[in-house]
Amino acid sequence: MKKVKVALLGIGTVGGGVWEILHTNREEILKNCGYEIEVEKILVKDVTKKRNTDIPQHLFTSNIEDILNNKEIEMVVEVMGGIEPAKEYILRSIKEGKHIVTANKALLANHGEEIMKTAREEGVKVYYEASVGGGIPIIHAMKESLGGNKIQEVKGILNGTTNYILTKMTQEKVDFPTVLKEAQDKGYAEADPTADVEGFDAAHKLTILSSLAFGISTKFHEVHREGISKITPIDIEYAKELGYVIKLLAIGKEKEGVIELRVHPTFVPKYHPLASVNDSFNAVFVKGNAVGELMFYGRGAGDLPTGSAVVGDMMAILKAQGNVAVEVLDNYSVEKIVKPISET
Ligand code: NAP
Ligand code: HSE
Repeated sequence: MKKVKVALLGIGTVGGGVWEILHTNREEILKNCGYEIEVEKILVKDVTKKRNTDIPQHLFTSNIEDILNNKEIEMVVEVMGGIEPAKEYILRSIKEGKHIVTANKALLANHGEEIMKTAREEGVKVYYEASVGGGIPIIHAMKESLGGNKIQEVKGILNGTTNYILTKMTQEKVDFPTVLKEAQDKGYAEADPTADVEGFDAAHKLTILSSLAFGISTKFHEVHREGISKITPIDIEYAKELGYVIKLLAIGKEKEGVIELRVHPTFVPKYHPLASVNDSFNAVFVKGNAVGELMFYGRGAGDLPTGSAVVGDMMAILKAQGNVAVEVLDNYSVEKIVKPISET
């Protein structure tokens, strides 16, 4: 068994989920990647803040130098959000040879190229599964499993907060401010919920997805964007009468060499699979010239679903780093017996 020391930048909704998974699923993580992951430091804004956790106080710091100067820390997990100082901390961590896992789609959509270029130069890895679709493994699918396809279309519901709001407004006729507050309380919304409500967050995610899908360097400002703040209960009623539901869709399409990227509220026919994607769930449709049509579905926001994607990335980096495949097999214990069907 090997040990690796990591640092978390932030321990809010997502960081809290990561901490919980690392501790609750310690055994599975060890078995599946061959490493015991130890959180050595946690960067926060305010070390004196009362926190509802069992995290030992000595792990907290508000000084990034405690992480950058600690040579034992091999991986930095950025779950603090925002552009600065997250960008500076990531770039400096990369220069210190530390691998990065980030959930920060706003940062990647605006500065992803610079971060990836620096990481390539320094020979470290930057993984970002949690940046799109919460717990849905869509980044891995786009980069690896679908790598042999020419992707023609990628579209879907990429923001949990707005999908939660639209679902509640459709099903329960609650007003916008009340339901937004609920989404914030559940930890779905961004620090500034305007990012969700006005479609910026979905556009950040579409920027990341379309770069992978179409192999282009997509600029965030090239995505047409319109949010849900102008949707009224009357719009929802009209949609219903006509046999539609309103969803905030993110759409990326390639046709004859031209790529169209847009985020806007859309009338979705009730019979369409996207119409029944409710609450904070996300769904992504992908159309590839070999695979045909695929749909990915799952929780798009929240502590554990997003934490699941972050922890998966941490393990993927560790697995890629060493020859752990053999160890994983060696670690396997046959404690669980599979019952023959005849006995069930
Ligand atoms: P959050 O709950 O607001 O937590 C942010 C954490 O970062 C807090 O612990 C905060 O410290 C710390 N922090 C913020 N600014 C800092 C600074 N300048 N210096 C040091 N520490 C700082 O945020 P979150 O919802 O977990 O989101 C984190 C990231 O994940 C964002 O990029 C977000 O877009 C992304 N994301 C979120 C979700 C979700 O469902 N929430 C899903 C996917 C991706 P204090 O505790 O001292 O305040
Ligand atoms: N605020 C984001 C959302 C978090 O609601 O989808 C997940 O990326």
